[in-house]
Order: sequence, then structure tokens, then C-alpha cells
Amino acid sequence: MDEKTLSHLSGVWNRAWPLVVDHGEGPYLIDTTGRRYLDFTCGIGVTNTGHAHPRVVAAIQEQAAKLLHGQAALVAHQPMLRLVEELLPIVPKPLDSFFFTNSGAEVIEGAVKLARHATGKPNVIVFQGSFHGRTNATMAMTTSKTIYRAGYGPLASGVFVAPFPYAYYYGWDEETTVRFCLRELKLILKSQTAPNETAAIVIEPVLGEGGYVPAPAAFLQGLREICDHYGILLVADEVQAGFGRTGRWFSIEYSGVVPDILVMAKGLASGMPLAGLAARPALMERWVPGSHGGTYGGNAVCCAAAAATIQVMRDERLIENAAAMGEVLMNGLRHIQAKHPEIGDVRGRGLMIASEFTDPKGEPWTDRAKAVAGAAYQKGLLLLRCGSYENTIRWIPPLIISASQIEDGLEKFQAALEA
Ligand SMILES: Cc1ncc(COP(=O)(O)O)c(C=O)c1O
Repeated sequence: MDEKTLSHLSGVWNRAWPLVVDHGEGPYLIDTTGRRYLDFTCGIGVTNTGHAHPRVVAAIQEQAAKLLHGQAALVAHQPMLRLVEELLPIVPKPLDSFFFTNSGAEVIEGAVKLARHATGKPNVIVFQGSFHGRTNATMAMTTSKTIYRAGYGPLASGVFVAPFPYAYYYGWDEETTVRFCLRELKLILKSQTAPNETAAIVIEPVLGEGGYVPAPAAFLQGLREICDHYGILLVADEVQAGFGRTGRWFSIEYSGVVPDILVMAKGLASGMPLAGLAARPALMERWVPGSHGGTYGGNAVCCAAAAATIQVMRDERLIENAAAMGEVLMNGLRHIQAKHPEIGDVRGRGLMIASEFTDPKGEPWTDRAKAVAGAAYQKGLLLLRCGSYENTIRWIPPLIISASQIEDGLEKFQAALEA
């Protein structure tokens, strides 16, 4: 039945594994034959509280019986207000005005629209390797791989691309890389989009699809200075790196920088489709009422799931666990790296970690990373790749992960390397 019905699904979803999932349980996915897989993908960084966390499930069930949909442009509803109360102590001050929508791409589009309204300026600057989504505007802001853009042109205009401080790629130390990237950004403001035409600089503080590369604090601080100097808004895309993933609520906290607009999605609602942005009230007030919105944005059941997600993260100390387990994972990977020189770099923050494969000539080793991820699947470990060359294996276990489950994952990885 599965095979025949599967053939009716669009091939545009290039499924990573021939896997039909029956259910999820904490860090495991269980297929229809009963086989268990250790899920170190979290559905691409979404199920941070694990699959089907009982408290999140209960909140969804309770809310579903009360109110499924209360259109946000028409009425307010209790779960959204509860969610705001939960978010207020989490987001950096003074970002305490919120807008909700359904997906990462939509909320990035929203952030760009807000930046354009608030500044009256048309252009945005993004970074090499960034992934901001697949809608018309966000596709033009995405440069992690050509496949996201090829054949869809002409792309939306007004987007300029600056180099991301990816020290391992350049083969430089961090300081040299930061200096180079800030210089190039300033050159773009002189040569391609003038400050008085640039509404926003949009950055993933930890580059996600582009290779799991944390931006050094000095770079983010440099961006803040440039934005303040020229009256450009700084937008932090925390869609993948936010919500505890890196051992802090938001990854930009590592730099001490407060963005003008903070964008969140994925881990926010444990798998329910919800995304949001936070900004200063004075900025949000410049978004002309009625000029943006959407039928489902801030859905009642999704908001209830998000409020429960935050409570679970606080009560179960998942941020602290992400930081502690991140260290266990990082140390384990460095240990394995010492025996496997094809792992050229291990980097990351919290439970957002990369192991990048490099061949003996120092070039990206895509085939090797692909083979290892494939062998890991055979051993019951789900791992995704990332990076423009897809030569990086990314480690995104749920934030509920234990040390013994990480050990299990590392043993499977080691076996996959030796397969
Ligand atoms: C950093 C970042 N921004 C935006 C998006 C787009 O989110 P969505 O797929 O929910 O539209 C993603 C998705 O992977 C992402 O990683």
C-alpha cells in the first residue's frame, strides 16, 4: 500500500530516506515495520522537546477542544496572549512587540516588509551561504545552494550578498576572516547599495543550511556598529539556531548584540507551524496596520503548543541540557576526528554542531559525507548534511537528549565511518 500511495506524492520532496514513519517518541522515530531510529535531525531543527512531548501534546489536545482558529486580524485569543507572556522574559530587551505567522520563510518576508515600511528604504543585504526560505523574496535572499534558485528566475531584486565569516572555508584565523568580511560589507555599502537605500542587514547568527558556522562575536558586533552608524536595521534570523538550540535561548546572545528584529520559528512550537518576530514597539508602530497579515498566522492551537514548549524548556532545563550535551557531543566528535582526518573541522554551539568532510587535497569531500550519512541510516541513526557542497554532517539532536543517547549516536557514527 505504502509504495503505490507514495508514488502519488510530488517528487519535489526528495525524501532523504525510504522511511514511512508511524510515530515519534522523544529522540526516536519508529517506522511502520517497528524499526527505531535515533533522530539527530529533529525534522530539521524543529522537535527540540523531542517527538510528541506529553505536555505539548496535552496542550494541543486541550486547545483543539476549545478553539481551533481565531483570526488574528479580527480577534485576539488566549493562547496567543499566553505565548506573549511566556516570550517576554526570553527575548532580548527591548524587543517586546510580537507578530506571528506560519513558517520561517513567511516571517522573514514579514521582517523585510516591516524593515521597508519602517525605514522607507528598498534594499537588504544578506550573507553568502544563507538560507532564508523558498518564497519569492526569501529565495532571492538564499544562497546556500543553487538548486533553491535555479529555474525560478527572475529573482526578486533589491538583495545584495556579502561574505559570511566562515574561517574554515577561507583557511584563515577568525580575526583575519572577521576583518575581511566587515571590509567587504563596507565596500558593498559604497559600491552596490548605498546606506540610504539599505533597509536591513539580515543574518543567521549561526549559518544553518550553509554549513553550521557560528558568526564570531566580533563580526556581529561589527554589524551592529555599521547598522547604528548608517540607520540600517539588523535582523537576526534565528529560525534554525533559536529556541535553545545553541545552549542559549537565541544564538545572537553569545555576542551580546541586540538585533532590531528577531525572527523565530522551527523549535518555537515543537512541530506545529508557527513563526514569529519581535521588535521594539517604536519600530513595530511604523508597520502600517492592515498592510500585512495572513489567514492562519498565530493559530490558536499552534500558540498553545508554543506556550507549552517554553514551559517544558524551562521546567526541564533544556537550555542547560543543550549546553551540557553539546559539550559531550563536541568532545566525542573531536575524539573521533583525531582518528579520521577526513573530518577537517568540528564546530558549533550547544546542540548545533557540524563535522565537515575534507579530502586529502583540502577540498570539500561531498561523497564521503554522503556515504557516511547513508551508512549511519543503515545503523539506525538519522543524520542530515548541510553546506553549499553538502560535505558537512550536521548534528541537531533534540534538547532532551541524554549523554547515553549521544554515546549511542557517536558509536553508530563511528561504525558508519568504518563501514
Ligand atoms: C535560518 C532559516 N531561515 C528560514 C528558513 C525557512 O523556514 P521555513 O522552511 O519554515 O519556511 C529556514 C529553514 O530551514 C532556516 O533554516
